[in-house]
Amino acid sequence: MKPDTLKSKIFLDGGNPDETKEIIRLLGFLDGQTTNPTLISKNPRAKEHLEHGGTFTEEEIMEFYREVVTRIASMIPRGTVSVEVYADPSTKAEEMLSMGRKMFSWIPNAHVKFPASHEGLKAAEQAVREEMRVNMTLCFSQEQAAAVYAATRGAKRGDVFVSPFIGRLDDRGENGMDLIEHVLAMYRKGDGHVEVLTASVRNPDHLLYALKLGSDIITAPYEILKEWGERGLPLPDEHYRYETKGLRGIPYKDIDLTKNWQEYDLRHDLTVKGMEKFSQDWNAMIGRPAVAQR
Ligand code: E4P
Repeated sequence: MKPDTLKSKIFLDGGNPDETKEIIRLLGFLDGQTTNPTLISKNPRAKEHLEHGGTFTEEEIMEFYREVVTRIASMIPRGTVSVEVYADPSTKAEEMLSMGRKMFSWIPNAHVKFPASHEGLKAAEQAVREEMRVNMTLCFSQEQAAAVYAATRGAKRGDVFVSPFIGRLDDRGENGMDLIEHVLAMYRKGDGHVEVLTASVRNPDHLLYALKLGSDIITAPYEILKEWGERGLPLPDEHYRYETKGLRGIPYKDIDLTKNWQEYDLRHDLTVKGMEKFSQDWNAMIGRPAVAQR
């Protein structure tokens, strides 16, 4: 049972339904799951197939992804499962949207993941008009989060998530948790239609501090949720302090949320790198050369 004092939704970040089952057993609840192309390529069945020299056709990998999320979704019928479209840095909004429509129809509780890039935002703007639920991924700046807010105005709360990736900012010496704090503070000035999903969680302290900050949702890998569950779901108290371990602080920006999404600066090298890596892992599964070599 989920403790009453735990207000944030807890998601599992992974592509293996067996882990979903185990986490539900350990925690006694699970509010949702996030997947991405890299996580799907690490699914044990996919890995085994690939390690034995096999590849998938595009239809086969889509069918495999559909099967995986269908199994996951059936275990969390009241939760939600995020499914990510193929998006390399040159993929157009129309292509993302058409894949997103397909994925949205796979299960009754999908959020479709689009990147927080220009084409991703364009696709998301249309997706919410079509009443699709979206999760804007690869978000690394407050400006990108402001653009997500603006592009999805009018959607109802629960239908739009933004996923700031904290671990990848930490990896290059920036304090990713600052971004969570700033996006939450910035959104407090708005109408509350976008939920903040803390992603790229690398350690138990990311989870605890995101809980302390009041992140709407936190997605964490199997090992971290397993450890948290085994420790009896500890929650941060008023004495909890997050240790920044020398990471550089990210300054807060006072951003006006009333502009059109195209007016915000969406550029971030980690968004581009993230799209390259996700598409590379997807292309490797179908034996297609990485984007840069095409
Ligand atoms: C969540 O939706 C993301 O797919 C995930 O948290 C990315 O984490 P990583 O930076 O560890 O790959």
